[in-house]
This record gives sequence, structure tokens and C-alpha cells, in this order.
Amino acid sequence: MVKVTGLEGVVAADTEIGLVDGEQGHLIYRGFWAKDLAVSRSFEEVAYLLWFRKLPGEEELRTFTQKWRSLRALPVSIRSVLELLPASVPMMSILQTALAAMSDDDLVWPPTTEQAMRLTAVVPTLIAARYRLLNGLPVVEPDENLDHAANYLHMLFGRTPDPAHVKALNAYLILGMEHGMNASTFAGRVVASTQSDLASSLSAAVGAMKGPLHGGAPSEVLVMLDAIGEKANAEPWLRGVLEKGGRLMGFGHRIYKTKDPRAEALRQVTEGLVSDDPWFELAIHVEAVAQRLLEEYKPGRRLYTNVEFFAAAIMRAIALPAELFTPTFTLARSVGWSAHLLEQAPVNRIFRPLSQYTGPMPEEG
Ligand code: ACO
Repeated sequence: MVKVTGLEGVVAADTEIGLVDGEQGHLIYRGFWAKDLAVSRSFEEVAYLLWFRKLPGEEELRTFTQKWRSLRALPVSIRSVLELLPASVPMMSILQTALAAMSDDDLVWPPTTEQAMRLTAVVPTLIAARYRLLNGLPVVEPDENLDHAANYLHMLFGRTPDPAHVKALNAYLILGMEHGMNASTFAGRVVASTQSDLASSLSAAVGAMKGPLHGGAPSEVLVMLDAIGEKANAEPWLRGVLEKGGRLMGFGHRIYKTKDPRAEALRQVTEGLVSDDPWFELAIHVEAVAQRLLEEYKPGRRLYTNVEFFAAAIMRAIALPAELFTPTFTLARSVGWSAHLLEQAPVNRIFRPLSQYTGPMPEEG
């Protein structure tokens, strides 16, 4: 019988980018608490921290944001990709395809910060343009006067975004930016380890992010809460899933064996955004009931709310359509992926683990 480990407990690389301490519930980006950065810094400042190893000074930030913002427009060929692919192609597959198609002679290995800036700058534009095309709306061009979070909302909805929504989204994007050797970061690192270009590595990471066990969970949280509908239904509904051996979306984590610090921080941000919201009250109720039932059905597994549960709450509060939840997570994480690929390049060695053969051997003779 093959022991399926999912590489649990295996250290695949040294990194100075982020620390995920699952026992204590700590998340640190280059020596700073992620939860503090989320409420005190802009997405640009934290991206600078991840890529350049320090927070920017005033002048550094000005030059950096000016450059990054100037790279947001889509190349004509990429815009055509968005227009040509049928509506049935999911947004995450669109991102994968468009990022892979950004590969050109300037994007050869090893990755550089310029390449990272160029590729990550277009991710929000890709999402917003495709979203608007699908909905028969005119594409809104990026606005260089707006920061990353505000510009994303502006390109999606074609109006000046509510500052409270920008603040909440900024916090969410920062908390989603980096998370150690998660499945998508690992996927990107594996591809980059072959000396493939940054566009291909990011495209691979997007493919991993798409799955419901990773970045695909927040919209599933909405589905779950919609299906529960009201507080009285929570216990029977959740029990029904657990009785059948199913999983509750937005709960459990490979690393966190206590509350996911991102979930705590996002809950606070959402609380500051909504008041007397029946949906949010239901979410808080479902969290408590699920926690109790997970103790009952999965004793000792230490399953708590993960980032996705409150990511769903925050994105719903800022009126993002559910189909944009995972892509929005992706636009944040693309910065963290790039930081890992930049870090790996100088010490690169191809990832090549072993498999254990458990099949039959040829007959003797
Ligand atoms: N609901 C019910 N049971 C669960 C859940 C859950 N959400 N998560 C884990 N379990 C149970 C498993 O059934 C298993 O039980 P068993 O010991 O009786 O077999 C035990 O807890 C351990 O589960 P594993 O699958 O071994 O845990 P793993 O570390 O491989 O999985 C994962 C982590 C994928 C996040 C899992 O907890 C899960 O499926 N959660 C729901 C999906 C989700 O919320 N994903 C978002 C994660 S955060 C992110 O990636 C950004």
C-alpha cells in the first residue's frame, strides 16, 4: 500500500520571504507581522518588501509605483486572447493562458524584478478586462493615479471605488500575497527550477491555485452559506456533510493547527465594513457550529477556520462577484510567487524527487 504523504513535513527550500508558524498561528513577511502590514501599508509597499527585501523609502516607493503602474496595460495580442476564448473557459484558465502567452524573448530565465513587475502588473487588468468583456461592458483602461487595489476596483466596475472597499481589499490582498511553500508556490518553483521563464512558472502556479483544495475554496464558502440559508439550518446541514465524509469549505489547513491568523485579521476587517448584515451574522454562526462539529467528527485533527472563510466574507462585502474570488486571490499571490522565483534563481537546482515503485517486476529469465 502506497503511503500518500502530500510531502507533509518536507522542507523543499530555504526562504527569507515568509514564515508560516502553524502551531502559534503566526504569519511573518521578511520580519514584519503580515496582519500589521495589512492595515498599515499599501499593496505596493508590501510588494516592494517581498521583492527588494526591505520596505521602501518615500523616493523608492514613488519611483517603484510609477514604474509598476505604467506596466498595467495589456499588449494587443493578449487582449485578443481574452476576446477569442469562449465564455465557457473559466477565469483561472484565462489567466493561465494569458500569462503563458506573455512569454517572449525578454522573459528568459533567470527571472528579474523587472520581469516580475511586468507580469504581475497585468494580472488585475486581465481579470477586469475579461470580466467586462464577458458581461458585454466596455473595457476600462487602468488608471495610473490609482493604487493597485483601487485601480482593480475601478477597472472592474468603471467607477470611483468606495474608499472603505479599497482599504478592505488592500488588507485582503496583502494577507493573500505570500504563504510559504503552498501548492501553487511549489508548482511555480518546480517549473522555474527547470530554468523555464517566469511567465511559464507563474502560469503553472495559477493552475495549482485553481483547485478547490487551494485557492478555489472561497466561492465554495459562499455556496455553502447560501445552501445553509438560515441559522437554524446550520447544524443539520453541516452534520449532513460530515456524516457523508465530506469537507467543510474554509476549514482546515495543512500547516495551521490553530486559527489561521489571516482569517482572524480578515474577520476584523470585515467587521469594520459591515453592520447588521444577516449574511455575515450567519457566517459567524456557521463558523461556531462548524468548529464544534469538527471537534466531534474529527477529534484531534485541529481543524479551524482558514483564510478562505473570511476571504469570502470580505469579497462579498465589497460586492465582488463570486467568480472573481479565486482570480482576486491570484492577483495578490502572483507577487509572492514572483518573490520565490527571484529568490530561487541564484541557488537553483532542478527539483527531481523520487517515486517509490510498487508495481510488478518482470518475470525472471
Ligand atoms: N472538513 C472536514 N474534514 C476535514 C477538513 C474539512 N474542511 N479538512 C480536513 N479534514 C479531515 C480529513 O477528512 C482528515 O480526516 P481523517 O483523519 O479522518 O482522514 C483529516 O481532517 C486530515 O485531513 P487531510 O486531508 O490529511 O489534511 P490536508 O493537510 O491534506 O488538507 C486542506 C488540508 C486541503 C486545506 C483540507 O483541510 C481541506 O480540504 N479543507 C477544505 C478546503 C479549503 O478550505 N481549502 C482552502 C485552504 S487555504 C488555502 O489553500 C489558501
